[in-house]
Amino acid sequence: MSAFRRFGFALVLPLAAGLLAAGGEEPIPWPHGDAPSSADLDEGVGAALSLATLERVEEFLEAAEKGEDREHIFALQTNIDLGAYDLERLFAFGDALFAHEFRGEDGFGDRPLPGLSRVHSGVRGGLDTYSCAGCHSVGGPDGAGAPTQNAFLLGDGDRASSANQRNAPHVLGLGFVQALGAEMTFELGQTRTNALAKAADTGADVTVPLESKGVSFGSLTAHPDGSLDTSAVVGVDRDLVVKPFGWKGEIARLRRFTEDAARIHFGVQSHVLALGWQVEPDVPHLGAGPNWWDPDNDGVQREIEEGILTATAVYMAMLETPVILPPHDPGLRARWSNGMAVFEEAGCASCHHPELPLANVRWDEWPDTTGGPPVELNLMRDGEKPRGTSLVKLYSDLRRHDMGEELADPHDGAFDIPRSVFLTRPLWGLAETAPYLHDGRAATIPEAILAHGGEAAAARDAFRALDPEDQKDLHVFLLSLTREPKVHVLQ
Ligand code: HEC
Ligand code: HEC
Repeated sequence: MSAFRRFGFALVLPLAAGLLAAGGEEPIPWPHGDAPSSADLDEGVGAALSLATLERVEEFLEAAEKGEDREHIFALQTNIDLGAYDLERLFAFGDALFAHEFRGEDGFGDRPLPGLSRVHSGVRGGLDTYSCAGCHSVGGPDGAGAPTQNAFLLGDGDRASSANQRNAPHVLGLGFVQALGAEMTFELGQTRTNALAKAADTGADVTVPLESKGVSFGSLTAHPDGSLDTSAVVGVDRDLVVKPFGWKGEIARLRRFTEDAARIHFGVQSHVLALGWQVEPDVPHLGAGPNWWDPDNDGVQREIEEGILTATAVYMAMLETPVILPPHDPGLRARWSNGMAVFEEAGCASCHHPELPLANVRWDEWPDTTGGPPVELNLMRDGEKPRGTSLVKLYSDLRRHDMGEELADPHDGAFDIPRSVFLTRPLWGLAETAPYLHDGRAATIPEAILAHGGEAAAARDAFRALDPEDQKDLHVFLLSLTREPKVHVLQ
């Protein structure tokens, strides 16, 4: 794959411009309504072809002048702090990182190169493939993973049965998700602060409900001495930080996910992690050194710059947002509307909240070590189209739920989250992300619903008890949660 799948964000023409609000009555875009004009089509095809040509030129250049590729994934955080790159340039760095095929000179793996392994070896991980795009490509660029691309986490490096299996979700719209999580964290934190202040003032225990954006996280009790009882906190860690990424909801920020993914899939270490090793050597995750600047001792230093963590976070925040595209055919459209009602009636929406309100569409990405200013962007304005609205049609509550023993992981995981507990998976983009569920065990949407258990057992039973026609309508509705069709040239 070439270094640049896209060089900016205007080069692939969105063919179906416009979002349909859930339940909204806006006109239905192509391919459901009028086809795009031939001028629009010409422009889209022309842009896609010139992008393909550019990618080929990049490949030739890399072959002829080695090192070209590496330059595309090298950005110093200090330069970002100085404002050296605009958003489009940062997007291009992140785009290049996502497509980059890591290799020995990038610090791929340890020395000697161990080769790929399907099953991860403990917390060190794979190596299981060469690029982010190598797992995130089903349904289009930045998409989900096929079952054959599943990651086998925390295994013994050999037997699949020793590991917890994970199927890759798509990475679209994640700026909205990070921002929602951060707002929820802020609100829960404020509730905690207020409870502590009140307990100190009154000299008595204060118990408060924990709620944000209509989602309940149980309650906590503040004691007058400033200590907390968090035993009634549910659906979030006791630190009250909402972590919206990963099937179990274990990571709060895109730069941390990028860092972790590069480490466990490619053995490529961020400079931030190496700096941490200098303070306290993390041998299990990174290696035994001997030098802090090269913890995995492969002879490559500064394998991923902090600036690239920032750029990749910006890239994912600027990617297109999934959309709802209902069927145009009147008969199917009626079934779709009924399916949406069934989704509510069966109790799906109690976890898969159709909308979460975002208070502030300004998104910022702070550096880890330089003390520089954040990179800022406006989620509704900056990046690929379509962008979405401040009522984020995520179909999740960003809260964890106990899904029962049948759906549980076979082994304990790394984050001290019980085996049967998972974050409500956002359903936006669902149609393009088969197979379903954390390990990809469900080939179809109805199979995924029937596999729900635990806290979702009542909704599953309600689905089972539905008239078969209503079940089909629900399926029609869920298939409208998709991504916009675009012109891409494959080569
Ligand atoms: C071997 C396949 C594989 C590769 C390579 C890979 N990913 Fe992933 N990705 C996954 C899987 C599996 C998950 C779900 C992980 C989990 O829940 O524990 C995931 C989840 C994510 C998420 C969280 C999405 C969400 O909605 O929760 C992000 C962000 C992400 N990956 C980014 C990246 C980046 C950036 C890279 C490259 C540095 C990358 N991935 C490389 C398989 C992969
Ligand atoms: C108690 C909360 C809860 C309820 C109620 C619930 N779900 Fe889920 N849903 C989840 C969680 C958590 C997951 C992820 C589980 C996993 O992967 O192991 C999920 C996953 C899914 C998936 C798979 C998504 C993917 O990308 O793989 C679909 C489809 C789905 N739910 C649809 C529904 C429908 C339809 C209903 C109503 C009949 C429903 N859910 C009710 C919590 C819930």
